[in-house]
Amino acid sequence: MERNRVALITGAGRGIGRGIALELARIGFKIAGCDILYEPKNTRSGLFEVRGEAAKLGAAFLPIEGDVSNPAEHDRILSAVLAEYGRLDVLVHNAGVAPEVRTDVLQTTPESFDRVMGVNMRGPFFLTQKAVPRLLETAAGDAGVKPAIVFITSISAVVSSTARAEYCLSKAALSMAARIFADRLAESGINVYEVRPGLIQTDMTVPVREKYDALIAAGLVPQKRWGFPEDVGKAVAGLVQGYFPYSTGLILEVSGGMDIRRL
Ligand SMILES: NC(=O)c1ccc[n+]([C@@H]2O[C@H](COP(=O)([O-])OP(=O)(O)OC[C@H]3O[C@@H](n4cnc5c(N)ncnc54)[C@H](O)[C@@H]3O)[C@@H](O)[C@H]2O)c1
Repeated sequence: MERNRVALITGAGRGIGRGIALELARIGFKIAGCDILYEPKNTRSGLFEVRGEAAKLGAAFLPIEGDVSNPAEHDRILSAVLAEYGRLDVLVHNAGVAPEVRTDVLQTTPESFDRVMGVNMRGPFFLTQKAVPRLLETAAGDAGVKPAIVFITSISAVVSSTARAEYCLSKAALSMAARIFADRLAESGINVYEVRPGLIQTDMTVPVREKYDALIAAGLVPQKRWGFPEDVGKAVAGLVQGYFPYSTGLILEVSGGMDIRRL
């Protein structure tokens, strides 16, 4: 059981980010959840619903309004965590967007390309730069801590989808960002991990629910089911507890076996 360690999770208001926040809350983390959607009066969905669920688990949850794609907001987001808890142990880059419209790669627009890259890759890249000194300060003050950064990429980092090229490109680039930061920070004591979800039931996959239902029934996923946010949350919880101390740069796929090449 973790005690007093603090995790910042981006995009924590719903879906996979919510699942990660609650799994880390369950094992004793104090949580800071950042999201672009911030509605204090809404306790039925979004950050303030997640805060209520975390409270049921006995965990502190700080909701922070923030747009990860905007580097001008990064200092404020991190300072809010430090002001509330006095430390930062774990950063989970989860916030991400799909293209608003699926478009053949021959018609991808510069606007959609920039939007998806801005949230999924450029934002986490620069937020990492700003978070590292805070993670190191926390580690310096406490010999027992195991600081970690987790990048939530996707199987789309390596699987082509011709109707959402900008998404695949953003996740491939984010995967390389994870590798580069793992390399750069290896000696510092901050371990960096990449988690690659497969088909996970969230609001993001609502538009393709029936398409993937049929593909899963036809055998696309060896474990023959959708993934759920808690599947990803448990994987992240496993990584950040310190049981992979000699495995920085690890890529953990959470896809029900989709990475198994099959005949
Ligand atoms: N659902 C899947 O099948 C799947 C598969 C692989 C990877 N992923 C990745 O997992 C992550 C979470 O996906 P999800 O399915 O939970 O999506 P989702 O759309 O259900 O939730 C994403 C959350 O991120 C927030 N967000 C979006 N843009 C933001 C920004 N600029 N700043 C801060 N917060 C922002 C949203 O408000 C929302 O709360 C994404 O990075 C996604 O690419 C999802």
